[in-house]
Amino acid sequence: MALLQTSFDRMLDSSVPTFSVTTPLYYVNDVPHLGSAYTTVVADTLARFKRLQGYEVLMITGTDEHGQKIQRTAEAQGLDPQTHCDHIVVKFKELWRSLNIRYDRFSRTTNPHHLAIVKDFFQRVWDKGDIYLAQQQGWYCVACEEFKEKRDLLEDNHCPLHPNRKAEWRDEENYFFRLSRYQKPLEELYAQRPEFIQPSSRRNEVLNFVAQGLQDFSISRVNLDWGFPLPNDPNHTIYVWFDALLGYVTALLGEDEEPSLANALAKWWPINLHLIGKDILRFHAVYWPAMLLSAELPIPAQVFGHGFLTKDGHKMGKSLGNTVDPLDLINRYGEDAFRYYFLKEIEFGKDGDFNEQRFVNVLNADLANDLGNLLNRTLGMVKKYCQGQGPQVMATDLAPDNPLKALGSHLGEQVSSAYERLSFTDACEAIFTLVRAGNKYIDDMAPWKLFKQGSQKEVEDVLYSVLESIRLSAYLLSPIVPRLSTKIYQQLGFTWDFDQWRSPLEQAEEFNRHQSWGQLCANQNLPPAQPIFTKLELPAEE
Ligand code: MSP
Repeated sequence: MALLQTSFDRMLDSSVPTFSVTTPLYYVNDVPHLGSAYTTVVADTLARFKRLQGYEVLMITGTDEHGQKIQRTAEAQGLDPQTHCDHIVVKFKELWRSLNIRYDRFSRTTNPHHLAIVKDFFQRVWDKGDIYLAQQQGWYCVACEEFKEKRDLLEDNHCPLHPNRKAEWRDEENYFFRLSRYQKPLEELYAQRPEFIQPSSRRNEVLNFVAQGLQDFSISRVNLDWGFPLPNDPNHTIYVWFDALLGYVTALLGEDEEPSLANALAKWWPINLHLIGKDILRFHAVYWPAMLLSAELPIPAQVFGHGFLTKDGHKMGKSLGNTVDPLDLINRYGEDAFRYYFLKEIEFGKDGDFNEQRFVNVLNADLANDLGNLLNRTLGMVKKYCQGQGPQVMATDLAPDNPLKALGSHLGEQVSSAYERLSFTDACEAIFTLVRAGNKYIDDMAPWKLFKQGSQKEVEDVLYSVLESIRLSAYLLSPIVPRLSTKIYQQLGFTWDFDQWRSPLEQAEEFNRHQSWGQLCANQNLPPAQPIFTKLELPAEE
């Protein structure tokens, strides 16, 4: 069954379905890294796919700006925390622009509107009797912003996720959230909604964790200024994770709306999909639904925990000196290359590797050769063999056994189902099966020979079916490589821009037509051929 279908049937009015998706709210202790870019590209791709289908979409990203980690980073640079956050937020927004990310909301946890939401929410949980004061003793990893069990730490109390950082001993009074009270309700939730946590390996992880017994967790800190004060006790600040998860709710407020929990929840709650990395699964799949249960609010439809990226087979890290700067890659190879590699090459949900040679090879094989060259040479043949016009053929004229038509007729459905399953690799594979079939067909049919034999109708049929295959592929690839798809569509004579959307109803109608085989017309008015994707080259060795 399609992963996302469970809550897609929610409609805002009688005819427009809605879809909301979030990325994590990224810490601003540093400029964005490859991991943040990866999740955000996935969210953008899904948002684009749903917009294409005619959904009203809300794509949410943003930044998590409170807590000790950020406070210390700002201090180390001699900046006040807000100034530091403002600087880093600019870097995030620049990167999203360079990656052609079209988010609808950018949620910052230092936004004053957010304070109002946190206060309202806190009050509901407080009124429920789920918050109490007690002594917290334990090992705290500032990099994770999380207490760790002694048994989970490495030698010398180093955190396994941040081996160069020691966890710090804390012994202080904190307010606690009664997570233990939600053990049963959570187990019921997981049983009733098996699709809530995906993929299933992550779901099992969570089930095992919860089965060990849930312990209350502290939701306030003392001796930390950089955070919202607790509404009932200003000597404490709210724990950064309690505050951050609510950033998803604040994001739902319209620009001029009065910041209240009721307003934030009115239109878009519950969220359809939280996309996160596997390291923050517990927060999203255990703590977050428990907090919502306590506040008596509906639970989001799905949490999807993706894998981790490595570089040349190794864990990436600043201290390891092997980080990959996403902006650097984009400047060198372009944003569509970036988007394509990470979506096609890495099975979503599994860990995956970045290797620059492989990156260049994949892009050259798929986008430059298989797709780009096919378009270029086919347009060249159209010019030569069709008296400068497009092929004078309609889809209905093609022989029923035309192999491209046979493949293309089911492609829309197949690719849509892959997007619904968040299987971007499968979507690309299916599309490139058609593209490669197009290359083979043109070689097998040899239109240059047909032309010499005077078989004009056959020549035009071949060229039409190859161009139509390219069109369909470009349409279905557009959530992943929007600018490349726009170029292809323009080369095929459409005035079209995959970065412009019409109303959801028009989109839905257009989707039905363009995801189907046979949209190219006779008299397509093809402009002169231009290369759409230049072959990539690795930078020369220094
Ligand atoms: N601020 C929290 C999220 C709060 S959401 C309410 C946070 N931020 S983070 O900036 O540290 O991490 C953001 C995301 O990056 C996480 O989903 C994390 O899994 C992901 N990644 C960090 N390193 C990664 C890789 N090497 N590969 C893929 N994703 C990785 O956690």
